[in-house]
Amino acid sequence: MEPRKIRDNIYSLGFIDWDSRLFDALIPLPDGTSYNSYLIEGSEKTVLIDTVESSHFHELEAQLKNVPKLDYVISLHAEQDHSGSIPQVLALYPDAKLITSAKAKGLLMDILPISEESIIIVSDGETLSLGDKTLEFIFTPWVHWPETMVAYLQEDKILFSCDFFGAHIATTDLFVTDEARVYEAAKRYYAEVMMPFRKIIDKNLDKISAYDIDLIAPSHGQIYPRPSFIIDAHKEWVSSRLKNTVVLPYVSMHHSTKMMVDFLTSSLVKKGVNVELFNLTVTDIGKLAMALVDAGTIVIGTPTVLSGPHPNVVYGAYLANALRPKVKFLSIIGSYGWGGKSVEILAGMIPNLKVEVLDPVLIKGVPTDLDFEALENLAQTIAAKHQELGFE
Ligand code: FEO
Repeated sequence: MEPRKIRDNIYSLGFIDWDSRLFDALIPLPDGTSYNSYLIEGSEKTVLIDTVESSHFHELEAQLKNVPKLDYVISLHAEQDHSGSIPQVLALYPDAKLITSAKAKGLLMDILPISEESIIIVSDGETLSLGDKTLEFIFTPWVHWPETMVAYLQEDKILFSCDFFGAHIATTDLFVTDEARVYEAAKRYYAEVMMPFRKIIDKNLDKISAYDIDLIAPSHGQIYPRPSFIIDAHKEWVSSRLKNTVVLPYVSMHHSTKMMVDFLTSSLVKKGVNVELFNLTVTDIGKLAMALVDAGTIVIGTPTVLSGPHPNVVYGAYLANALRPKVKFLSIIGSYGWGGKSVEILAGMIPNLKVEVLDPVLIKGVPTDLDFEALENLAQTIAAKHQELGFE
């Protein structure tokens, strides 16, 4: 695709990846993604902000064919989906300098064959004059690496945000036209990539609120012509507000755990608590991550395999622990045949979750009336806790 004009002398380049269905060999991409790069032609200097994965360099190279001179390449984030083609771009433009932060410099030199002499380091708040345009560098650490920063084009009021405010969507629409669709993709992106850093993201949101922003141009997905839409969504996701929802990831082998899951779901719904079920043998793990963004409680349902939780449940628990959602309560339900330590093993896997653990319901074999009574009590406890804390 040819470079697309955003504003006078400002263009979107990069690669729209319609086909990929997995990012980082981990994250589902139901809608593909894009790797955006931005070209700014100032009256004196021309810059390229970020690049693409090295395997897609040929796309970027074709888009640069009418750009005779590049003064600077700016790396906002060292991860290879944005930095991967920097060596090839510098080889195309041997006089260009690479601008980045001190922290990113080390990472870039670890990851890529880049010579130290080609790098110019900028500090937080520093500006770069392109003649009639001025770029300001704003450090926004931990969205989602330690070195991440954004760049603000002062005259055009455009924030180039790299991963911050990103969304995995492949589309030919340069600007967001369907906010509902983008909300889903951006929430998924936040859940999978940003959620563990929500407290520092909150601080970064405060930091950029000082800027008058007309457009946000991320490096995945579309440009936001109404920045408040995506900024407000992030403010909500990082806030301490929780929903009156139980996320219930589970596996069932011989239907006993499923009977418990169904009973608990029905009981919670009767008490006015929403439930989101995820059968971990078939679920889209991104959907589970999204549900964890604002759910008040997690209940894990597991059968017992070789005296421990089902391996898919172990995977789900590991992921939940790594994503550090703001959930407040957690419990475990499930069935075993001849014994096991599922509760102890799972409880030991979630040290990052600052939760109150509610009494688990682990039963032998098929649930009895007494077991259903224990599940009813668990539902009652959850409903009361949610009500007490005002989850909506
Ligand atoms: Fe899109 Fe952290 O890379």
